[in-house]
Amino acid sequence: MPHIFSCRNLEFLKSLRFKDEDIQTLTSVEQKGVEEEVFIKYSLFHNPTNNSSSIPDLIRHKHAFFLNNTLRRVSRGYEALDASRTWICYWVLHSLSLLDIKISDKVKTACIKFLAKCQNSEGGFGGGPGQISHLAPTYAAVNALIIIGTKEAYDVINREKLLDFLWSLKQENGSFCMHVDGEIDIRGVYCALSVAELTNTSSNELFDKTAEWIISCQTYEGGFGGCPDMEAHGGYAFCGLAALTILKKQHLCDIPALLRWLVHRQMRFEGGFQGRTNKLVDGCYSFWQGAALAIINMFIDKPPKNYLFDNKALQEYILICAQHANGGLIDKPGKHRDEYHSCYVLSGLSIAQHLIPNVEILGTLKNEVKITHPVHNIRLDLCNKAIMYYSAKGSQF
Ligand code: FPP
Ligand code: ZN
Repeated sequence: MPHIFSCRNLEFLKSLRFKDEDIQTLTSVEQKGVEEEVFIKYSLFHNPTNNSSSIPDLIRHKHAFFLNNTLRRVSRGYEALDASRTWICYWVLHSLSLLDIKISDKVKTACIKFLAKCQNSEGGFGGGPGQISHLAPTYAAVNALIIIGTKEAYDVINREKLLDFLWSLKQENGSFCMHVDGEIDIRGVYCALSVAELTNTSSNELFDKTAEWIISCQTYEGGFGGCPDMEAHGGYAFCGLAALTILKKQHLCDIPALLRWLVHRQMRFEGGFQGRTNKLVDGCYSFWQGAALAIINMFIDKPPKNYLFDNKALQEYILICAQHANGGLIDKPGKHRDEYHSCYVLSGLSIAQHLIPNVEILGTLKNEVKITHPVHNIRLDLCNKAIMYYSAKGSQF
């Protein structure tokens, strides 16, 4: 299996720094500040005697310790995440599965019980028990149950009611509300398509006109906005492309323009991705932008042997700049660790390491994480197992 021990050296990195041509703006000052922090991090791994750089280990067990703790007990600060409790389950369980850390039966049972309580009688899941059904926590809960991967977990999902819930959100123009009478944006179509595809509740009627609506969100830059006429952003570009891919209608959007926009979101100095034009690098876009590139790679006619982005520079950013020393992963140096970034930085690491069937690991082979499905962001084997389970159940209620 190919593995690479050193990456870009310091002299080369210096040549990539941002040049403001003596015109300072708020964003140019912020960009230079981030590059300074990143440079300090990269310098720690530089060996001046041979002018090469080494790669740190993925501190797998520290990350696992941080993540496991969240499933046991959280501090008061988590109050603000009360409507994201199914998300926390997904972020943590997915991160642990990518790290190949076994989830105990006790934890699995506790998560199943909790997620079942978040499911409402009219279908769909709320962010926590007693909260209204919403597409985003529904997506998170379905993914979490699929990651747990037992019959008990699969059978929590009331598929017939889930389908009713999806229909209750469908709009005439093909888009989906996030909840009844809620906002409409491209996350809605992605979440609806992803859960419907995984649980075998999809149909052509449910997603009639959806591809056309998604395409109307592609902007002049080539990325996708949250809804028509909004700014292109990595989170929404992922949702748009992943949703079109589930519909097998990706060819309807302007792929060359999307590809051009995506490749320009990788920061030449930092190695990680930014979410939108003229903004700062952030570890979570390792997945949102990286996965969109991995999806394009899956269906272009003659996929290049190489990655469509610099997968080694991305791994370098993740391993050197996005690991918190005490475990957990982060946006950029100096930021707090959290479960969201842990999940999407590790998912981005998986994307950067595995361009099926190629594997390229930066550092030692111990840095390898498991393969994530670039469309559903669930470990590939767990995703396929769930699809088989629900296919066998049929789609007639
Ligand atoms: C801007 O944040 C962030 C957004 C406009 C939305 C991001 C959307 C996602 C991450 C996708 C969510 C997907 C699902 C499936 C629910 P910011 O202004 O703080 O960050 P920035 O400066 O990096 O743009
Ligand atoms: Zn982020």
